[in-house]
Amino acid sequence: MRLRNLKNNSEIINNCPFLVKSPDAFIGKWKDNFVNSKNPIHLEIGMGKGKFIYEMALNNPDINFIGLEKFDNVIARAIKKMPQMLPNLLLLNTDAVNLSSIFDHEIDVIYLNFSDPWPKKRHENRRLTSRPFLEIYDHLFKDKNIIIQKTDNIGLFAYSLKSLSLYGYQFEEVSLDLASSDIPNIMTEYEEKFTSEGVKINYLYAIK
Ligand SMILES: C[S@@+](CC[C@H](N)C(=O)[O-])C[C@H]1O[C@@H](n2cnc3c(N)ncnc32)[C@H](O)[C@@H]1O
Repeated sequence: MRLRNLKNNSEIINNCPFLVKSPDAFIGKWKDNFVNSKNPIHLEIGMGKGKFIYEMALNNPDINFIGLEKFDNVIARAIKKMPQMLPNLLLLNTDAVNLSSIFDHEIDVIYLNFSDPWPKKRHENRRLTSRPFLEIYDHLFKDKNIIIQKTDNIGLFAYSLKSLSLYGYQFEEVSLDLASSDIPNIMTEYEEKFTSEGVKINYLYAIK
């Protein structure tokens, strides 16, 4: 995602009360960061401008949400777009490769929405469903591992099905046309754009 640099990115990020500044400090204690510490925690990796995670938090007050985005300029825009702080939403500004030093068996669900496809073979390990990332996710999940992915990219989707399956995941739901299914859905920014262009969205719900 390419965005013009907002001049005051660091100011927006530093002043945001719901962006956690030193996430490593909370390893093993994330539930205590939320008003209702008994609720499950869902994590979106690569939230972009944050529409999905914000609306999910607004519509699901019994779930705690964390949105992760690696680029300062993208997360600064997300913060600017969020109308208010929600008691069940926190943000992290870091790369997903750092996740095993941030969470220790505390996450219930991971969302991967329109992740970068990295089509070249030499970049395979950057795909968020490659084996190195699946190994990282094993450190994050509390009980069962649940990964929900949406993508327009059929190459990435086929890769994810194979990679997840080889790693021991099973599929509870798979759709090659999410809009025509009865799966409940909140659209992301990318999804709105692709859907308006008539592109079909692929969906999987994987569990291990
Ligand atoms: C194609 S955009 C999709 C954004 C949003 N999920 C949507 O559907 O509208 C992918 C986003 O994932 C972020 N991203 C990619 N790799 C990441 C990583 N390793 N850690 C954190 N964020 C990442 C990118 O910076 C970008 O904002």
